[in-house]
Amino acid sequence: MKAKIAVLASGDGSNFESIVRASRSDILPAEIVGLLVNRPGIEALRRAQRLGIPAAVIIPKNFRTREEWDRAMVKQLQAWQADWVALAGYLALIGPEVLKSFPHRLINSHPALLPKFGGPGMYGNKVHQAVIDAGECETGVTFHLVDEVYDHGRALMQEKIPVLANDTPESLATRLKARENELYPRILADLVTGKITTG
Ligand code: GRF
Repeated sequence: MKAKIAVLASGDGSNFESIVRASRSDILPAEIVGLLVNRPGIEALRRAQRLGIPAAVIIPKNFRTREEWDRAMVKQLQAWQADWVALAGYLALIGPEVLKSFPHRLINSHPALLPKFGGPGMYGNKVHQAVIDAGECETGVTFHLVDEVYDHGRALMQEKIPVLANDTPESLATRLKARENELYPRILADLVTGKITTG
């Protein structure tokens, strides 16, 4: 039986789409069972519709407590029978109930070489601006396990990408995301086939 992966997103969803497309080729031997988002009206949702993937919108402000929000997420992920949960531009901290329900099965991608340029507030072009401001000559993408701290869990794989002299946050983001889109399905393939073990 193929492994089942749910994807979490908060924005554009280019990684989500690339994961779905890979699952429909021989790159990723898994089924993408659903897209869970925490914001309505985002491009990732439109992609899910175009791709025919079930989507759920679970908005934090609709819950009284973190625990209730967490429980709603777990319920949806379990209804999809997800074995793995891949965060792809999901801009919220994962709560304890979700962590507990998917031990060593939650993966995130971060557009920098963690532990540098990670943590709360470090997302999107803020990351790339910080990399350029720090005068770094290389940056990269980090795939890591998710724990209770932003951008903190064990790194599973990193790939470096040069920062060019004339790079802007936008040019860097474009180059980096193209590579991230290629790599994310491959990391997931290594995880579901056991080539990479998570403990
Ligand atoms: C990616 O660069 C990811 O690393 C970061 O947010 C971005 C999301 O891009 N966490 P997209 O929504 O998949 O296009």
